[in-house]
Amino acid sequence: MNKRGLFVVLEGGEGAGKSTHARRLRDWLAARGRSVVLTREPGGTPLAEAVRGLILRDWPEGMDAATEALLMFAARAAHLHGLIRPALEAGKDVICDRFVDASYAYQGAGRGLPAERIAALERFTLQGLQPDRVLVLDLAPELGLARAKTRGVENRFETESLEFMRRVRAAYLERARRDPRRYVIVDASQPLQAVAAELQAAVEACL
Ligand SMILES: Nc1ncnc2c1ncn2[C@@H]1O[C@H](COP(=O)(O)OP(=O)(O)O)[C@@H](O)[C@H]1O
Ligand SMILES: [Mg+2]
Repeated sequence: MNKRGLFVVLEGGEGAGKSTHARRLRDWLAARGRSVVLTREPGGTPLAEAVRGLILRDWPEGMDAATEALLMFAARAAHLHGLIRPALEAGKDVICDRFVDASYAYQGAGRGLPAERIAALERFTLQGLQPDRVLVLDLAPELGLARAKTRGVENRFETESLEFMRRVRAAYLERARRDPRRYVIVDASQPLQAVAAELQAAVEACL
């Protein structure tokens, strides 16, 4: 039987470098002969990507925090079923651009849902599954927004207030500090190469 693959998550605010470093980590692990799946949330499978479309759209009546959280976890359940669990069980490494911590940060700290309600959804959906490493790319929201702007089209989250983004950042840092064995905080204001080196070291430590 294959050994279970490594489950690595990248977290952080908009423009922190998650997608950039998710690709780099994928390439770095693949170059070491590992079989790697790169994926993202919300999304990652056809069903979960369809739910992503619902989440990111602007609805005439708006979207309340509970609906947003439930849709995030619906997408996550589909992603776990359709991609993450099968890949890990097949011995593949999974690099995921955002995961459950994003729900605590955005729907919890950002939108104001109590963490206990997010925790209830987490227990229901994940049933004990945890990433092996959560890499938190920490960056001042002003800097992240400036970087994200170079990408063009903005979604509902990228147009949130700086106050919202500061709450998101603080929530990531707090969760990371609570569990230093699984979380690594990386200063994402450093040059790309320095960030990449810290992330690789953090992943290497659990190979
Ligand atoms: N350490 C860095 N220094 C300078 N620019 C960066 C750095 N990390 C990422 N970028 C750039 O910032 C932009 C946003 O990065 P991206 O990976 O899309 O962020 P995220 O997925 O976290 O929103 C991209 O143009 C990327 O090349
Ligand atoms: Mg991204």
